[in-house]
Amino acid sequence: MVLLFCVVYLIIFFVKVQTVWVGILLFAGAVFVTTVLLWIFNLTKEIRSSAFSISEALIGIVEARDPNLNGHSLHVQELSLLIYKNLPAGFKRRINEENLKYAALFHDVGKLGVPEAILNKPASLNPDEWNVMRRHPEISVQILRPLKSFDLIKEWIIFHHERIDGSGYYGIPGDKIPFAARIISVADTYSAITMARSYKPGKTYEEAIEILQRVEGKQLDTYLVSLFCTIPKEDVLACMDRVKEKISKQSSVAEMLEV
Ligand SMILES: [Fe+2]
Repeated sequence: MVLLFCVVYLIIFFVKVQTVWVGILLFAGAVFVTTVLLWIFNLTKEIRSSAFSISEALIGIVEARDPNLNGHSLHVQELSLLIYKNLPAGFKRRINEENLKYAALFHDVGKLGVPEAILNKPASLNPDEWNVMRRHPEISVQILRPLKSFDLIKEWIIFHHERIDGSGYYGIPGDKIPFAARIISVADTYSAITMARSYKPGKTYEEAIEILQRVEGKQLDTYLVSLFCTIPKEDVLACMDRVKEKISKQSSVAEMLEV
């Protein structure tokens, strides 16, 4: 806004406009344009925020049907953003925060295409079941394909199960894995370790950190795991508190829908 006023007055100065009325007219015009721009900016911000809240609510309601997914995507989203916020500026410039929010939230939406018998199996999956399970990143991308705005994050979603040593779903190694996919992967692994599932209890923060450090350089990005371990424990745990808060709001909406 200040910049716009300065530009207008510089124009007045350089064209040597002496008439007071012309100056007032230009000033009023500048105020009008600035007000309209601010209004458009706030409206766009509101629309983005609403779109994101709707996406969170939809994912929450979908996950609420599966005890093993309930809150997982929201947790991965919170943890991914926490990692992003703790990245040095140079790394942050490589990723758009808004895109990361959406990619982390939708990374497992393809599990909608995996039968519940496989998702909730209280034992190890057999090779055929693993083949079905391994298709969920691809199904996520198929679900999101009609949305053009998701073009940028499709690779982040499809490669969220890649491993640094190249033994992931698609066998893509280290630096070839998009940096954002590596962030989601650390967040996804921490969430999967700490959240209770029907077939296992959730582990503590300390146990999860120990496991992450054990698999860094093989499954997970060494730098990102080191960074994650330096984030204060209370900040990491606060991610789950926010998830629980969101889920409690969504549960009341889901209950209303069931009535
Ligand atoms: Fe996944």
